[in-house]
Amino acid sequence: MEGKHLTNHPHLIEAESLSVKYPNGELALEDVTFTTDASTFLAIIGPNGSGKTTLVKTMLGLLKPCSGSIKVLGYDAKREYNAIRRLVRYVPQRDHIQHNVPMKVKDIVLMGRLLKKSPPRFASDKDVDYARDALRRVDLEELWNQPFPELSGGQRQRVLVARALAGEGPILMLDEPMSGADHDSQVRIVDALHEYHEESQANIIMVTHDLNPIHIVVKDVLMLNRTVMGIGHPCEIMDTELVKQVYGPTAYIVELDGHKYCITHDSGIDDHDR
Ligand SMILES: Nc1ncnc2c1ncn2[C@@H]1O[C@H](COP(=O)(O)OP(=O)(O)OP(=O)(O)O)[C@@H](O)[C@H]1O
Ligand SMILES: [Mg+2]
Repeated sequence: MEGKHLTNHPHLIEAESLSVKYPNGELALEDVTFTTDASTFLAIIGPNGSGKTTLVKTMLGLLKPCSGSIKVLGYDAKREYNAIRRLVRYVPQRDHIQHNVPMKVKDIVLMGRLLKKSPPRFASDKDVDYARDALRRVDLEELWNQPFPELSGGQRQRVLVARALAGEGPILMLDEPMSGADHDSQVRIVDALHEYHEESQANIIMVTHDLNPIHIVVKDVLMLNRTVMGIGHPCEIMDTELVKQVYGPTAYIVELDGHKYCITHDSGIDDHDR
């Protein structure tokens, strides 16, 4: 791994009275204000439609605020999105990989390095080393030469995480990287991101609707429901009153072996008790 991903700017994200509206009038984010320190592992959580993807896309300059501002490592997302995109390795919620193109796993992982190079894009020995190391981190090294479309949903998610791990830049932004992954794949994704964060100090921003598999490893949690419902250490967010307010009156917190778990309509303790 090349150097540590330390940055001089003290804050990873600074959002100030940020509101984002879609052209159909939908106000997806309203008056969002929060700051997170750099070198963090941040989870962005909230129910479906709470604005998580909208926030990520706004940080990348793909959507523009209708009022307020958001900065990423000091760069304004409205004006300086090119600088931000150079810093970020992004795994979108829905990837547009063509499954009818005979791409191999290695081609997908190498994309994490090659897409930031200027053409002609050839993989150097160093690129291959980084891609192999990234695939090893998600425990799929043996699939290096496998056709990507033949993988299971969970294996594909792990390969997409490896593509981000193979790249460079101080921020990884992953939008629901565990969707469609079974318990085993979820654990491998969380462990790989945790290990990588600890080794490299890279900032990790991970969107998830389920805090349970990751609350032990993340440093900060932002809970969204169109606006900021809570921000802080995972223990502060795992609060009965807060989760009832966000997920409804049937949501609650249970404590097991010294860890808190959040039970909502769409998460069960069976899946996450490890
Ligand atoms: N392209 C769009 N045009 C209009 N409204 C949109 C668009 N994309 C999202 N929205 C709306 O904005 C709100 C926030 O959506 P967003 O996708 O950011 O939520 P999310 O928290 O990522 O949800 P999920 O957990 O389902 O991924 C929702 O009400 C959604 O219907
Ligand atoms: Mg989303």
